[in-house]
Amino acid sequence: MTETVGALLDAATRRLTAAGVETARTDARLLLAAAMRATSDRLLGYPEAPVEDRAARGFAAALDRRLAREPVSRILGEREFWSLPFRLGAATLDPRPDSETLIAAVLARVVERSAPLRLLDLGTGTGCLLLALLSELPRARGIGIDLASSAVAVATENAMRLGLGRRALFRIGDWDRGLAGRFDIVVSNPPYIPHREIEALAPEVRRYDPRLALDGGADGLAGHRALAGLLPRRLTPRGIAAIELGAGQGPAAAAIYEAAGVALLDRVADLSETLRCLVLGGNPRKITVGKRGPTV
Ligand SMILES: C[S@@+](CC[C@H](N)C(=O)[O-])C[C@H]1O[C@@H](n2cnc3c(N)ncnc32)[C@H](O)[C@@H]1O
Repeated sequence: MTETVGALLDAATRRLTAAGVETARTDARLLLAAAMRATSDRLLGYPEAPVEDRAARGFAAALDRRLAREPVSRILGEREFWSLPFRLGAATLDPRPDSETLIAAVLARVVERSAPLRLLDLGTGTGCLLLALLSELPRARGIGIDLASSAVAVATENAMRLGLGRRALFRIGDWDRGLAGRFDIVVSNPPYIPHREIEALAPEVRRYDPRLALDGGADGLAGHRALAGLLPRRLTPRGIAAIELGAGQGPAAAAIYEAAGVALLDRVADLSETLRCLVLGGNPRKITVGKRGPTV
C-alpha cells in the first residue's frame, strides 16, 4: 500500500521521539524530503501526497540511521556552513554554526576585501573555515592543513565543488610542521573537549565526530598550546588569528596565548552569547591600533 507524506512523517516522528531525538519532526521531514528529492518546505504543504515505493525505502533506510543517532547532515552527506554546501566524511568534523563566529570576526577586521591576503587554516576538516573566507575575499589564497589524510581529501573536493580550488591548497600535516612562511590571517578550530568528557557527549557527537577532531587532551587545552607556540612564527607583523574556544575556556586559553607573546585583540561571543573566539595578533609591539583596531 502506498503511504502518504503525512502518515510516514507521523510514524517516523513517533519513533524518533521515543529514541530520544529532540528534533524528531524536523529531522523526519528533512530525511523524507531528501528521499523524495523534494524540498522540506514543499512536504509541509502536501501531507496527502503519495510517497513512491523507492522513496519510501530510501526514507526507511535513512530513518534507521537516524534512530542509531547518526546526525541528519551525515546521513545526507552534506552540511551548510556560511551558506555554502560542504561534503562531510568519516574523518571530518560536522561543521557547527558556532564556528561562523570566526568568519565574522575575521571579516570585521579586513579593511580591503580585495587585498591579496595569505590565509592559513590549521585543523581544516571539511575546509569550511578557509573556504568560507576565500568565498568572501576574492584575491586571497590559502592553505588548509589536517593530520587526517581523508579529511584533506574531503576538503580538496569541497574546494573544487565550490569553485575555489585554484586559491586553496590542502595538505596533510601536524599543525605547521614543515610549513614555510607567514600569513595575514590564521584560523583554527582545534580539538578542545577534555578527554574525560568525550564519553558524556551526545551520541551524535561521541559516535560520529572523529576523536581526532574532539580530543583536546586532559584539560582540553592541548590544541591551544600547540597553536600558541606556532602563531608568533606564522603571523605577519600585522596579521590576525581567530581561534575557536570551547565553552568556559576563555580565561585559560587567553593566558596560554599571552604567555606565548601573542597579543589578545578581542573576545567574540557566538549567537548564544557564549565566548567562542579569541582574536589574536602576531607581535604586540608592531600592531597598528587605528580607529577600527588592528587590521590586516
Ligand atoms: C574541531 S575539528 C575542526 C574542523 C574544521 N576546521 C571545522 O571547524 O569544522 C579539529 C580538526 O583538527 C584536526 N587535527 C587534530 N590534531 C591535529 C594536528 N596535530 N595537526 C593538524 N590537524 C589536527 C582534526 O583532524 C580535525 O579535523
